[in-house]
Amino acid sequence: MPSRNPAGPGDVLPSLGDCCTVNVPLLDLVAQYRAIKDEVLPALQAVIESQQFVMGPPVAQLESAVAQLAHAKHGIACASGTDAMLLPLKALDHEPGDEVITTPFTFFATAGTIHNAGGTPVFVDIEPGTFNIDPAAVEAAITPRTRAIVPVHLYGQMAAMERLLAIARARGLKIVEDAAQAIGARRSIDGEWRMAGELGWATGYSFFPSKNLGAWGDGGMMVTSDDAIAERLRKLRLHGGAKQYHHDEVGTNSRLDSLQAAVLLAKLPHLEAWSAKRREHAAYYTRGLADLPAVRPPAVDPANEHIFHQYTLRAERRDELQAHLKRHGIGSAIYYPVPLHLQPCFSHLGYRAGRLPESERASAEVLSLPVYPELTQGQLDCVIETIDGFYR
Ligand SMILES: Cc1ncc(COP(=O)(O)O)c(C=O)c1O
Repeated sequence: MPSRNPAGPGDVLPSLGDCCTVNVPLLDLVAQYRAIKDEVLPALQAVIESQQFVMGPPVAQLESAVAQLAHAKHGIACASGTDAMLLPLKALDHEPGDEVITTPFTFFATAGTIHNAGGTPVFVDIEPGTFNIDPAAVEAAITPRTRAIVPVHLYGQMAAMERLLAIARARGLKIVEDAAQAIGARRSIDGEWRMAGELGWATGYSFFPSKNLGAWGDGGMMVTSDDAIAERLRKLRLHGGAKQYHHDEVGTNSRLDSLQAAVLLAKLPHLEAWSAKRREHAAYYTRGLADLPAVRPPAVDPANEHIFHQYTLRAERRDELQAHLKRHGIGSAIYYPVPLHLQPCFSHLGYRAGRLPESERASAEVLSLPVYPELTQGQLDCVIETIDGFYR
C-alpha cells in the first residue's frame, strides 16, 4: 500500500538535527504516473471510444503477453490476485479434510484462499535467509490427506521450486504458485532460467496498484501450461460456463476489465527496467548498510534473480527504528507482523506460539524500506544515513 507520509514526495521536511531532510515515501505511484501517463492515457481513451469495458481486446492481449513472460501456455485474467489463487485452488475439488501445505509468513490471501476453496491450510516454517517456504519442512508435513503445496515467492524472490517440484512429483501433489509479488522473477535451475509461474500446475499474479506491475485498481492473472486446467479456470471466472447461459459447474464473476488491461499493457514494456532499477537500489542499500551489525540486509539466493517487490531487512529494535524513520519522513512497513498460523481466524487449527519459530522471528524483526524505481540517489542516501544515525 502507498505510505501515508504527511508531506508529498520530494517535499523538504524541517531538519530533525541529523543527516537528511528529504521526504521518502514507502511508494510513490504519482512519480510513476507522471513518467508514463502519455502512454497510458491514450490506451484508456481507446477503450472508452470502443465502449467494450468487459473482456474487450486488451484483456486477451494482456493474457498472451503475461503467459509469454511466464513461459506458460495460457494466461487467464481475473479480478484480483486473491481470485487468481482462489480459482486454481477451487479446481482441486477438495473433499473436507484435504490439506494444502503453505507458509505462514505471507499476505493473508495465500491461506484465506486455501480455506475458501474448501482446503485446510497446513503451515510449515520458512528458510531464515530468503523468508520462503522450507522444502524440508514441506516434506515432513505431508500426510495421506495432502493435496497440494502453495509456495509464495515472497518479496519478489522465488522459492526453491526444483526441490518443491521433486517432492510434489514423488507424491502426486499439485503446486499452485503464489507469484502475487513476483512477476518477472526467475531462478536458474539446471543452467536454465525458469520464471515465477512457469513450473507450477497453476500460478496466481496480483496487479494490485503497489505491485511491480500494478493496475489502476484491482486485477489478477492466472497462468498455466495445462490445457485442461486452463479451460476449467476460464469457466470458473465466468460462472462456470464456457457457453453463455449454460453452466457446467458453479463459478463466479471474476473478470479483468478492459480499462485495467489497457493500463497493464501500457506498463508491461517498462517492467523489466523497473525491476532492474529496484535491484540497483537494493544493492545500494545493502552496500550502504554493510557496516551496521544491527541490521541484516535481505539475502538473495544465488540461483535467483530477485525483483525486489520489497526490500526487507531484519533490524534490532525494529519498532523503534520504524518510529525513527517516520519522524524523519521515511516510509517503511512491516510485512507481516503476525504469521498466519497465529491469526485468530485459524485458531481452530491448533497452532501455538513457538511452533514455527523462524516465521515468528521474522515477523518480529522485518522492516521493508522504500525501493520503488523512481527513488533518487538523495533519497537512498537519506534512508541509509537515517538508519545509521539511529544505531550510532
Ligand atoms: C503473497 C500475496 N498473495 C496474494 C495476494 C492477493 O492479491 P490481491 O491483493 O490482488 O487480491 C497478495 C497481494 O498483496 C500477496 O502479496
